[in-house]
Amino acid sequence: MTNTVALYVHWPYCSRICPYCDFNVTRDRGQTARQTALFEAILTDLKTHADILGPRRLVSIFFGGGTPSLMKTEWVAEIVATARALFPPDGDIEVSLEANPTDAEIARYEAFRGAGVNRLSLGVQSLNDQALKFLGRNHSAREALIGLETARAVFGRVSIDLIYALPDQTLSDWADELTLAAQLGIEHISPYQLSLEPGTAFGRAARRGTLKILPPDMGEAFYNKTQSVLEALGFEAYEVSNHAKGQAAQSAHNRAIWEGVDYIGIGPGAHGRLTLPTDGENGQPRPNKDAAHGRVTIDGVRHATVALSDLLTYTAQVQMTGTGVAREALTAEDADEEALMLGLRLRDGVDLERFKTLDIRARAMRLITDRFLNIENNRLSATPKGRVVLDRLIYELLS
Ligand SMILES: C[S@@+](CC[C@H](N)C(=O)[O-])C[C@H]1O[C@@H](n2cnc3c(N)ncnc32)[C@H](O)[C@@H]1O
Ligand code: SF4
Repeated sequence: MTNTVALYVHWPYCSRICPYCDFNVTRDRGQTARQTALFEAILTDLKTHADILGPRRLVSIFFGGGTPSLMKTEWVAEIVATARALFPPDGDIEVSLEANPTDAEIARYEAFRGAGVNRLSLGVQSLNDQALKFLGRNHSAREALIGLETARAVFGRVSIDLIYALPDQTLSDWADELTLAAQLGIEHISPYQLSLEPGTAFGRAARRGTLKILPPDMGEAFYNKTQSVLEALGFEAYEVSNHAKGQAAQSAHNRAIWEGVDYIGIGPGAHGRLTLPTDGENGQPRPNKDAAHGRVTIDGVRHATVALSDLLTYTAQVQMTGTGVAREALTAEDADEEALMLGLRLRDGVDLERFKTLDIRARAMRLITDRFLNIENNRLSATPKGRVVLDRLIYELLS
């Protein structure tokens, strides 16, 4: 583990809560004082993390939500500047922000660029007005296209999110929509299959039987269609749900997370992973010079971190103690299992040598014979057939 770190900032506010969404979100009713206090808490928590981590090199920042495009642009600017000052990066780094394509937010894209954002992840969700209405979105397809055009003019890099496998959507509807989206001049697409989460309005409707559910084999057909349409249009599936036109278009932040780089997660409910010394009472880690590679490494134990999910409790906790984030040490085996799960999401897969605590070779060989996994130069990766059933593969590998 080199001495790098990525930063995830969670902003939970949204103009409207979408019926399918189970992220940690809350309605934005313009609660200025609360939002200011949350911004200040995020900044404090970031500084506390710098005290805990010691010198690190920042590799990326991701503002996710919720809807961080509703944040004051000055706040985004201050968080970016503070993170860069606390963890000086080597030159330019990717700074992504999730945005909704409503008029009010589109008007602020320029200011976000001024704040240091250089990649926009736009929640288009669909290019079909009826589908947008079904999804409870507060923008039309036309607004999404205007948002996209503006984003392309303002930011060097733009990605869009789309949701597919909606009730009544046919495979050919989806193929047409995806083809249209892929030809809008973007370099990155994240298509997500609609999942009906318990605790959401859609989840409840599905349980009551008032929302149509696709048969499971249709999910697989939609997934395969997504892969073939995007592949044909030059978008490589570098991860299960992420497609990019060439290496440079891949999300550096998400790649860092899947590859096991440490990341700070701040803001209500945010998760993080940090390598910390075992013996330092959470003091400074002990950077060691790795003579063989000339790199600085962090000698320590991987920790899972999670921020308090309620935003008022999170804010109050940071005000009292400097952080709203709890940490738990992972066993070496847990850390390896997680690295395997995340790494297999990537097309490049994982280096088998890395997994010293896991005895997976024999099971992996069976899955290689059945063409679910592939091995090349000691790297284990999922085949296209394997990716469709990745969760099951991982279960089989680890059980
Ligand atoms: C944090 S959310 C969205 C960011 C932004 N607020 C927006 O709505 O555009 C990230 C993405 O997750 C996807 N998503 C959220 N809930 C989903 C669900 N139940 N099924 C499929 N995709 C979902 C959506 O595509 C969404 O854009
Ligand atoms: S999908 Fe986006 S806008 Fe909708 S509730 Fe979730 S985070 Fe908020």
